[in-house]
Amino acid sequence: MKGLKIVATGRCIPSKVVTNEDMSRIVETSDEWIRTRTGIETRHFCQGEESASSLAVEAARIALERAGISPEELGACVGCTVSADSAAPTVACAIQRDLGLPQGIPYFDLNAGCSGFLYGLHVTRGLLFQSGKPYALLVGAESLSRIINFQDRGTCILFGDGAGAVVVRLEEDAPYAHDLGAEGGSDVIYIGGFGSDEAYIHMEGQKTFRFAVEKVPQCVHRLLEESGLSLEDIDWFVLHQANKRIIDRVAKRLGAPEEKFFENIQHYGNTSAASIPIALDEMVEKGLLKKGQKIVCVGFGAGLTWGGALLEW
Ligand code: UT7
Repeated sequence: MKGLKIVATGRCIPSKVVTNEDMSRIVETSDEWIRTRTGIETRHFCQGEESASSLAVEAARIALERAGISPEELGACVGCTVSADSAAPTVACAIQRDLGLPQGIPYFDLNAGCSGFLYGLHVTRGLLFQSGKPYALLVGAESLSRIINFQDRGTCILFGDGAGAVVVRLEEDAPYAHDLGAEGGSDVIYIGGFGSDEAYIHMEGQKTFRFAVEKVPQCVHRLLEESGLSLEDIDWFVLHQANKRIIDRVAKRLGAPEEKFFENIQHYGNTSAASIPIALDEMVEKGLLKKGQKIVCVGFGAGLTWGGALLEW
């Protein structure tokens, strides 16, 4: 079966750090509440000219440089975001323009909420089947600080900005399994349209929490079933970083060791479609990922959607 291999990663995080103390000067909250309920200690917000596109361009530049490939070998470039600077041009088109990538391949963004990167992986695999080129660029990029309601303490303390990029290659013998889905049309999480009075993130926290804790283990089991692997075969679980308590609860439900679940939510908060590629890049930097290891990535969020993939490093 032709699977996807991640060849290189990159990330770009805005330099402005916002602490829980800073948030407590904006809404009635505390460092203690945020840490114990979410695991978040800091998040980063864009400033000045920084945007989802500018972060995406930099993350993509780093990933392409590390991959050491010629841009002519790219078959597609997909941006995953809910907070693009504008509906058009897309984040993917900004990457093409700013990095001078070849024009004759598809560049587009997709929106599947916080599951975007997982949807993107699967779409990218399909595009590579068609393209005849070996590599694709996939970027999760968010500037959620633009669409946060800073009067709603239930949501504004959660989100942060950032971008993560991966260069992937289609490989003949690489194991691969995927599981995507949605409970569509839900207003448990929604972002009002451009120009509306509600053009910011609304979320019913507890319902979203329950959705995640139920769907993520189910998704993992489907990935294992499809790939014929067992829980013990998986070296790393890289979940969407939405709440440390969700990650802990999922580990417990699955009966998998907590040490196999990578966490960086403490530094970045919830960066939606960017959270998993940012996590992968940090894992590479820390030397945690070893050749031949099996990784399960699962995202969940607005839609409501979920998405999972099993990959070999
Ligand atoms: O990326 C998309 C996926 N998103 C998620 O997965 C998020 C999932 N949900 C969550 O992570 C949690 O539900 C939250 C962190 C959003 C909220 O935690 P919770 O334990 O579910 O709190 P809650 O909403 O039940 O609120 C408990 C109390 C309430 O006060 P009362 O009614 O008990 O007096 C809230 O008003 O905490 C209050 N509260 C806060 N207090 C201090 C809510 N937000 C805050 C805050 N600071 N920031």
